[in-house]
Amino acid sequence: TIKACLFDLDGVLVDTARYHYEAWKRLAADLGFEFTQTDNERLKGVSRMASLDILLSVGQLHKSEAEKQELAARKNRWYVEAISKMGPEEILPGALSFLKDCRESGLKVALGSASKNAMTILNNTGLTPYFDVIIDGTKTSSAKPDPEVFLLGASGLEVEPEHCVVFEDAEAGIEAARRAGMRSVGIGSPATLGEADLVIPSLEGMTVTRLRQEMPAFFI
Ligand code: G6P
Ligand code: MG
Repeated sequence: TIKACLFDLDGVLVDTARYHYEAWKRLAADLGFEFTQTDNERLKGVSRMASLDILLSVGQLHKSEAEKQELAARKNRWYVEAISKMGPEEILPGALSFLKDCRESGLKVALGSASKNAMTILNNTGLTPYFDVIIDGTKTSSAKPDPEVFLLGASGLEVEPEHCVVFEDAEAGIEAARRAGMRSVGIGSPATLGEADLVIPSLEGMTVTRLRQEMPAFFI
């Protein structure tokens, strides 16, 4: 049965994907090419340096390791500037009430994010107190689809992976959950998240009762 819920951050609890996109787009513009919304889909759930590699491949550019470090730092400065102004109003619909519902229903709650900026976002939006365990990009060495982030979350909660369900908006995140031996709920479109056990458009209206109704197998 399910004893814990593990949440991705960007695109599941908060709408930071657009800030990532604006910063990457600005970097591409500096480098002299256009970076579209469609290109940006490939960056979801992907670490900062891997995202830069994808961006550079779109622009057909080759950069040295030192140049890449500078470019990633430049993008991150713009991104940090944007998220430093975030507030609770940028929590995605349904996310806060579902987090509360999980806790009231006796489920443990962890964060499993690739972002090194997760703490800034959680603190600015007031979400920090809702997590028993927080695993972010500062605590992991392998990025999704590697299961490390979720396995660290489960061990921090002292819950076996088979008793965990992961909420994710990225294909790489669903794959990471599968490799961790966990159940998964995709947040977004079945076209990209078809590997998840359940796909919902957003957390709006989600409750533990509804999860129990839609996925009785999770609670056996
Ligand atoms: C999340 C986002 C990615 C982002 C990654 C690293 O997975 O979905 O778009 O690149 O975190 O974020 P960071 O804040 O460390 O650059
Ligand atoms: Mg995400």
